[in-house]
Amino acid sequence: MKIPKNHNYPASMGEEDFREAVARWYKVRFNVDLDPKDEISNVIGGKEGVANIARAFINPGDIVLCPNPGYPVYENGATKLCDAEPFSMPLLRENQFLPELDTIDKKVLKKAKLMYLNYPNNPTGAIASKEFLKKAVDYAEDYNFFIVHDNPYSEFTFGDYIAPSILQIDQNHVEINSASKMFNMTGFRCGWVAGNRDLIKGLRNIKSQIDSGCPKFIQRAVSKGLDEYLSNKKPDIVQKTVDIYEKRRDILIKGLNDIGWKTDKPKATFYVWTQIPEKYRDFGCMEFVKKLINNGVVITPGIGFGQYGEGFVRFALTQPEDRIYEAIERINLII
Ligand SMILES: Cc1ncc(COP(=O)(O)O)c(C=O)c1O
Repeated sequence: MKIPKNHNYPASMGEEDFREAVARWYKVRFNVDLDPKDEISNVIGGKEGVANIARAFINPGDIVLCPNPGYPVYENGATKLCDAEPFSMPLLRENQFLPELDTIDKKVLKKAKLMYLNYPNNPTGAIASKEFLKKAVDYAEDYNFFIVHDNPYSEFTFGDYIAPSILQIDQNHVEINSASKMFNMTGFRCGWVAGNRDLIKGLRNIKSQIDSGCPKFIQRAVSKGLDEYLSNKKPDIVQKTVDIYEKRRDILIKGLNDIGWKTDKPKATFYVWTQIPEKYRDFGCMEFVKKLINNGVVITPGIGFGQYGEGFVRFALTQPEDRIYEAIERINLII
């Protein structure tokens, strides 16, 4: 910020040195080669990329395959604002919160132009194997749609688990990531979209007519962060944050199970997704969440992420440990 040359208009596709930093990161983190000239674009946060990639390619009447429950922007900001039709792919517990691709109607697949995927997943905390991603890519090839893999939690993984990139499997699609979760920079609004050059070109064309880019000093700060990566192992600046969330996750999971609310431990993300306690199931998650609010605990009703989220709630581990202990005490009063 102190360097005046970082204060003028940036390029909406991202500064060259930023795109080069993203390319270096893909190489060390995933062993994926990308050309910063035409296979990467900056975005003003991943959310912008999720919405604007649809603006570039989706026409009225097209079908967009959206995970449900899912990050609401896939269905709203991306699909409905393009007058396209969202098709919900249910993410069910019995399928480890992965869409059952084999059960989607072939007519729907033929009309589909785009599929959003997001693993590690918000809101379920689920992860996807490379085999699953390969299967999705095969479907995309057979039915001629493209995949946007929204991957902002790629670094929010616990234990030995390392999240993959869809670009390790096929570079005909695009992947979105951002500094928001990786570097705890949610308010800085800096992300990137990488992959297929035709898709990147469409996104850049749209962006050039809408925004004037993420401030240069932010792009340069994020590049510094990305350059901390020397391999697929998280650098200290990232690992420190993830460790804090892992501890919070363990406190919440133990606390909920101790008071009789059976809840599984997610392997990734800072979310805990769990079915509402038995005695509230007939009333739905919204009623349960209202009851919790009256007891001073705010969590998100699953229905807010789509109809297949009914019966579930999402905890965000964004509060310090003492608040989590306090929340458990308050929850214990009503379950
Ligand atoms: C699945 C998913 N995608 C995208 C985003 C957007 O992140 P940002 O725009 O801050 O990069 C979020 C943020 O919560 C998210 O959960």
